[in-house]
Amino acid sequence: MTDLLRIKNVSKQYVMDGVVFQALNNVSLTIKKGEFVAIMGPSGSGKSTLMHIIGCLDRPTSGNVYIEEHDIFTANDAELAEIRNTHIGFVFQQFNLLRRTSSLDNVMLPLVYAKVAPRERKSRAIDMLKEVGLAEKMSNFPSQLSGGQQQRVAIARALVSRPSIILADEPTGNLDSKSGRDIMDIFESLYRKGSTIVLVTHDEDVAHHAKRIIRITDGKIISDGKSKRI
Ligand SMILES: Nc1ncnc2c1ncn2[C@@H]1O[C@H](COP(=O)(O)OP(=O)(O)O)[C@@H](O)[C@H]1O
Ligand SMILES: [Mg+2]
Repeated sequence: MTDLLRIKNVSKQYVMDGVVFQALNNVSLTIKKGEFVAIMGPSGSGKSTLMHIIGCLDRPTSGNVYIEEHDIFTANDAELAEIRNTHIGFVFQQFNLLRRTSSLDNVMLPLVYAKVAPRERKSRAIDMLKEVGLAEKMSNFPSQLSGGQQQRVAIARALVSRPSIILADEPTGNLDSKSGRDIMDIFESLYRKGSTIVLVTHDEDVAHHAKRIIRITDGKIISDGKSKRI
């Protein structure tokens, strides 16, 4: 299958009070279309830093990142935003929904940025909310939803722009175990329909939904291989 994402010798340094901290150290990896990958590692190992670079939310200090034919390192800020809007669907641990905004409006928002016509925005957002099982909750604000339901809205929002890759940074981290399983069922079903998914988790059970597990420690990949399904 074709390579969707290529990362070559990526390093990321943060400078705090004049001290350089190496958050990623010469990371290389390739993700093909249709893969379901989990990234695991201790707290502070660089997982979110890596996801932010993959998701075009941040740039590496050195190295190359390619999403399909796009070279992230040479893209200017406007090009980076465009690549992000068209290729990346991001799901966060804290859901990051707009608070005074209904489920439907939250899900429609990426399509406003993508300049999709209002009528199509609405029908696509409704379809996505139905797909994550929230047909009854379209008008609810986030505060009127459970954590699991809020995360389902966030997944619908990530998917509505039909991104080439779905990135989820500890998506079950703030959920009880039942809601967490429901969210993983949604990711499994997206994978079976052909989506490409990269998911960060602390939880071995969650990671084993993925077909490949990449482990990182101190900003370096220490293993990368097939997951042993439980
Ligand atoms: N914006 C930042 N400025 C300075 N240091 C940062 C910044 N973001 C992350 N770090 C540091 O980089 C390391 C990796 O962070 P992160 O990628 O968030 O780890 P993880 O997601 O694996 O817990 C941590 O030591 C963290 O303190
Ligand atoms: Mg993190």
